[in-house]
Amino acid sequence: MSLTAPQVPSPAPHPADGLSVWPRSTRPGSTGDLTVAGVSLAETAGRFGTPVYVLDEDEVRERCRTYRSAFPEADVVYAAKAFLCRAMAHWVREEGLGLDVCSAGELMLAVTTGFPPGKIVLHGNAKSPEDLDAAVRLGVGRIVLDSASEIARLAAIVPHGSRQRVMLRVVPGVAAGGHAKVRTGTDDQKFGLSVTDGSARHAVARVLGQSRLELVGLHCHIGSQITTVKPYVAAVRRMVGLLARIREQHGVELPQLNLGGGHGIAYRPGEESLDVRRLATRVRAELRDGCAELKLAVPRLTIEPGRAVVGPAGVCVYRVLAVKRTGPHTFVAVDGGMSDNPRPALYGVRYAPRLIGRHSTAAPHLVTVVGRHCEAGDVLAEKVPLPGDVRPGDLLAVPVAGAYHLSMASGYNLVGRPPVVAVKDGTARTLVRRESLDDLNRRDIGL
Ligand code: LLP
Repeated sequence: MSLTAPQVPSPAPHPADGLSVWPRSTRPGSTGDLTVAGVSLAETAGRFGTPVYVLDEDEVRERCRTYRSAFPEADVVYAAKAFLCRAMAHWVREEGLGLDVCSAGELMLAVTTGFPPGKIVLHGNAKSPEDLDAAVRLGVGRIVLDSASEIARLAAIVPHGSRQRVMLRVVPGVAAGGHAKVRTGTDDQKFGLSVTDGSARHAVARVLGQSRLELVGLHCHIGSQITTVKPYVAAVRRMVGLLARIREQHGVELPQLNLGGGHGIAYRPGEESLDVRRLATRVRAELRDGCAELKLAVPRLTIEPGRAVVGPAGVCVYRVLAVKRTGPHTFVAVDGGMSDNPRPALYGVRYAPRLIGRHSTAAPHLVTVVGRHCEAGDVLAEKVPLPGDVRPGDLLAVPVAGAYHLSMASGYNLVGRPPVVAVKDGTARTLVRRESLDDLNRRDIGL
């Protein structure tokens, strides 16, 4: 159903509008409103309630296309952990991407939506028997093995006469990533097989000895929210060196290399993001030169972006419930918080909310935007300018809410997770409905 009549696209916003991190279709609307894909955010909040995640379908699709055109020779595999629902799986498939899943749950959702299993990659440092069973049964394209014990566990469930394609996740020894909790390229964390202590070498030998497993290549994921190309180039160099050593030791040239994801985005105006085209050019050159030097055939590349595909396409709209002035501080409390966006509490990241839905001429004041949850750490934004007359009932919209918000949302304080509303060509539709009190209560069996 259409919320607003499709609008004639107005010119792209000027950087001075402060809309640089918003979906590209965002335009200032009437009386302080913003429209995304021609849909009023204030009307969306009124119709679907708050908090609400709004997702610009065309922005997601365009971002998929940017990857496909930057990496035409590679498999681009969307990391479902950033955000997954049936529509998202469908869009990603239509745009020609594969899917990275890390549980039987994500796998089932994708496959039952019609996602071709052969284009799915299964990840996980500790895959459950259900994860592995589902992957083998449904025929996923590649399983990325992350520990020595997993090799025999997987081989044991592959049916006689068939072979499961696998990759080995290795730790290339490259430190990168926007926060300690998302740095995975060195040995001091739980993922992958170490190159330095010989675990990777042993694992290669073990996989090659399993007749039901076909080792197609190596995988690494050095971290997340990486904004420069350099660590990826370093990772390529290490991985190519490793491929050459595997050939020396085992006489096999592995045909694939998966470089993971981690491509950084800006959450606030002025922040850095990774230049995907530059990444493609530099990775391609390093791969070509490195392989030529070691006389290796260039392996087929896979990349796994998550955040950079969906993060900037999402906006979360909240309603202000309280404004409290204590000493020098003004706290603006909204009707969501760490249950729909745990990222500030987990990684200390901050967002740039904006008042929408009414025009204010009040001078901006620096305020702290907080959530409704029972913790002082439930802070969405600190020292952000909002009009001095911000008051209960106002709407605040937070850009860059498409990745790792709903997928990491919780049932804290039994608030219920927000719905996801897709916007496209002036029309809004629900993709995922709000979690109701009834949903929450139904799981509780009682005394
Ligand atoms: N591939 C693998 C194997 C991964 O572990 C991840 C993310 C990705 C790809 C996609 O990374 P991306 O392009 O989205 O950065 N919850 C954190 C991010 C955790 C990322 C975990 N792995 C956050 O909210 O920042």
